[in-house]
Amino acid sequence: MGIILEGLPAGLPLGAARIDHELHRRQQGHGRGGRMAIEQDHVEILAGLRHGLTLGSPLHLLVRNRDHANWAEAMQAESVDGPGAGVEVRVPRPGHADLPGALKYGHRDLRNVLERASARETVNRVLAGAVALQLLEPLGIFVAGFVHALGGVRAWERPELEEDPRELVRRADASPVRCLDLNAEAEMIRVIDAAHAAGDTLGGVVELRATGLPAGLGSHVHWERRLDGRLGAALLSLPAAKGLELGDAFAQSAQGGQAALDPLLPAPGTPPLRRQGNRHGGLDGGMSTGETLWLRLAMKPLSTLRRPLPSVNLASLEACSAHRERSDVCALPALAVVAEHALAWELARAVLETFGADSWAETQTRYARRDERWERILGPNAC
Ligand SMILES: Cc1cc2nc3c(=O)[nH]c(=O)nc-3n(C[C@H](O)[C@H](O)[C@H](O)COP(=O)(O)O)c2cc1C
Repeated sequence: MGIILEGLPAGLPLGAARIDHELHRRQQGHGRGGRMAIEQDHVEILAGLRHGLTLGSPLHLLVRNRDHANWAEAMQAESVDGPGAGVEVRVPRPGHADLPGALKYGHRDLRNVLERASARETVNRVLAGAVALQLLEPLGIFVAGFVHALGGVRAWERPELEEDPRELVRRADASPVRCLDLNAEAEMIRVIDAAHAAGDTLGGVVELRATGLPAGLGSHVHWERRLDGRLGAALLSLPAAKGLELGDAFAQSAQGGQAALDPLLPAPGTPPLRRQGNRHGGLDGGMSTGETLWLRLAMKPLSTLRRPLPSVNLASLEACSAHRERSDVCALPALAVVAEHALAWELARAVLETFGADSWAETQTRYARRDERWERILGPNAC
C-alpha cells in the first residue's frame, strides 16, 4: 500500500514512529480476523522528508503487505502461459465490489476486483491521517473516534462535547471495542462473541469529534468546498460506511425548528459568541463554526459470513455459494480509527486551504493571527 501526499508545507516535523503507532491502532479491536495476525504494518518513508522535516516536495509513504509473499505467483505482474497459478474466482460475493467492479472493467477473474476493493486500502487513509494529525496537533486541533453503538448495543453515557479528544483517544485505546462506557463495552464484547459463534457479523455506529477548530473552514459560496460535503465524501467513501449524521440531525428531523434551534449567546473572551447547544455538529453553512465538530458514522454488518453466501456462478449462471475470503466478525473499532484519520486528513486540507503557505513557519504565523478575523467584524456600525 502506498500514498503520495502533495501540498504539505516545507519544514513540518513528521515522525515515522507516530505513523507506525497510528497503523498499530487500526489493527486492534475485538472481532478482527486472521489477516491482523499476519500483517504488522510499518511505514517506509521513501521521499519528501529529510532529517525529520518535510521538504515541500511530494511525501511518499509505503507499507509492505506481508501477505503478498503468499500471493507472489498468483498476482505476478508478468504474463503467464495458460490459466496461471491460483484458481479463477467466478462467483461474486454479495455486498462486495466483485460484480459491479467486474462489469466496470471487464474482468472475468473476480480476483482482479476483490484484492483491490479490500478494506486493506484503509491503511492508506491512516497513513494520510497520521501525517495530518502531526500538522493539526501543533495548531491545537485534536481528533477522536470512539464506538457509540455496536450490534444494537448502545453506549449509555456520552462524553461532554467539551472533553479533550486526547483523553477520549486514550480511553478508547484502552477498550477492546473502543467504547468509553464500560457497561456497554462488556455487552458489546458479548454480542461479538455470540455473532462469531453463530457465524454472523456485526456493524454499528462510531462517533467522531474534533476540537480547537477555527471558524470558517470550508465555504458557503462554493458547493464543492463545503466542509459538510467534504467530510461526507471522506467518511462515506470508507468501506462499509453507510450513513452519516452531522450533530444530532436525525433527532432534529423529528422536532420543530424552535426546539432544534441553536441560539447564539455573548460569551467572555475569544470567541465572544458561543452556540448554546452545538446541535448542528460544529458546522453551519458548509463551514466550521469553531465549536466542537461532532458526527456519527454508521457501518453495515460485514457482508462476508462464515456460512455460504448465496450467489450465481458467472460461468454457468447456476445458483451456488460464493467464494469465502478471510473475514472479520466486526471491524467497527478499526473503522473508528480509520474514520478519525479520514476526518483529520480532510480537516488538514481545509486548514491549509485557509491558512496554508509554502513553509510550516509561515503557516503557523498565519494561523496564529486567526482571531484578527473577529476584530474585522466586531464594533460599531460603519454608518
Ligand atoms: C477496517 C475494515 C475491515 C473490514 N473487513 C471486512 C471483512 O473482513 N469482511 C467483509 O466482508 N468486509 C469487510 N469490510 C467491509 C468491506 O470492505 C466492504 O463492505 C466492501 O468492500 C464493500 O464496500 P461497501 O460496503 O462500502 O459497499 C471491512 C471494512 C473496514 C473499514
